[in-house]
Amino acid sequence: MNQSSRDGFTSSFGVLVATLGSAVGLGNIWKFPSLTGANGGAGFLLVYLLATLLVGLPVMIVETMLGRAARANAVSAFERVAPRRQWWWKSIGWMGFAAALLILAFYSEVAGWVYAYVFKAMAGQIATTDPQIAGAVFAELVANPLSALFWQWVVLAVTGSIIMFGVAKGIEAVTRKLMPLLFILLLVLCARSLTLPGASAGLQFLFSPDLAKITPAVLLTALGLAFFKLSIGMGCMLTYGSYFRDNQNIPVTATRVMFADLSVSLLAGIAIFPAVFAFGFEPAAGPSLVFMTIPAVFTAMPGGTLFMTLFFILTAIASVGAMLSLLEVPVAILSERYGLGRKRASLTTIGVVAVLGVPAALSASLTSEAKVFAMNPFDLFDFLSSNVLLPLGGILICLFVGWVYGLPEMARQLSNDGALRNRRLVSVVFFLVRFVAPLSIAAVLLHGLKLF
Ligand code: PHE
Repeated sequence: MNQSSRDGFTSSFGVLVATLGSAVGLGNIWKFPSLTGANGGAGFLLVYLLATLLVGLPVMIVETMLGRAARANAVSAFERVAPRRQWWWKSIGWMGFAAALLILAFYSEVAGWVYAYVFKAMAGQIATTDPQIAGAVFAELVANPLSALFWQWVVLAVTGSIIMFGVAKGIEAVTRKLMPLLFILLLVLCARSLTLPGASAGLQFLFSPDLAKITPAVLLTALGLAFFKLSIGMGCMLTYGSYFRDNQNIPVTATRVMFADLSVSLLAGIAIFPAVFAFGFEPAAGPSLVFMTIPAVFTAMPGGTLFMTLFFILTAIASVGAMLSLLEVPVAILSERYGLGRKRASLTTIGVVAVLGVPAALSASLTSEAKVFAMNPFDLFDFLSSNVLLPLGGILICLFVGWVYGLPEMARQLSNDGALRNRRLVSVVFFLVRFVAPLSIAAVLLHGLKLF
């Protein structure tokens, strides 16, 4: 299939926005603060930054490159770029397929909480700075099986209809206009949070590392977050890369997305942690942290209800961009490999996620005791995808590019056939994906899973 008969992004700016739309999502606003809080703060942040720069960025560059070189879905791409007899590389694509479904199963639940909070914000039900009340409101939402399922299905219906009718352009246009607004609201939140009495304890928590808190498990969580944040290791960037234009500068685009994504996470951290300490919330509260703290900061400012509502609406929109990119992985595989029309491929994917999503949605109620490795289904799906499948996919992509695909072809692809002068940069990226990234991912993975 050549470029013209395939769907694709139409402008260089469109590529940047769509890729950023995939990266920025609940990962920044929900996952990053919860994990940073639960894993001791600044030390975790430091490791996460290192993982993003030394592993995340290079993997993002080569994964996107493979997609553009092959112009196919995550499974077929490896059939095209791997040597004829090495058919097994396409299992990377199938692992990505599985990871996408697992992530969607719990991501849709968290997005559901965000949708619910839009209405709670409007109704003034979360206008409180009291940790006790805020905790009770959240617990009530998640512990009720019906409301948990209801909101998850709303999310699936919304994102499913968008991906099915292929109005991704509509969403792209919406995202493009609204994301700057989310950024501005985060800045306002930061200003308020930083001026609360007692805010400095939060900054200290976030920025002065205590190296003793960095255990192997913390390392693995930070690495998993770096993969999850940049949507890499599971064929998502590969699929998006297959829609990139021929003259797109991949290393520059990836670097911009990485920095923009990091800034959003840091802003979320600065909005949340000073308030956590100022109001006496528990930094290690886990998944509920954001849902209690953010409303508290808004409550402490004039016009709180309005801004709080707006904030949750924008977060819901951010989650849609990320979910569309997750859905695109299985949808592209099903439609390109099995000739399923886009509509049937989308419905099938949504159907599977709806089923897988049930145990995740009920993790605070009916399935809370259904534990595997001491984790309820929600935590298990999150752990398996971010901390196992994504790093594993990352290692395999690095080994493929570093040892099979090779430097000459990589240099040709990343320089757009010699149009860009980036040979030095490409050599650095090659060195990172050939040696540094696979070795460090392997060490962190084996150690973090207590396998050695
Ligand atoms: N990067 C997205 C976020 O942070 C989540 C995601 C993971 C999207 C993997 C696509 C693939 O919210």
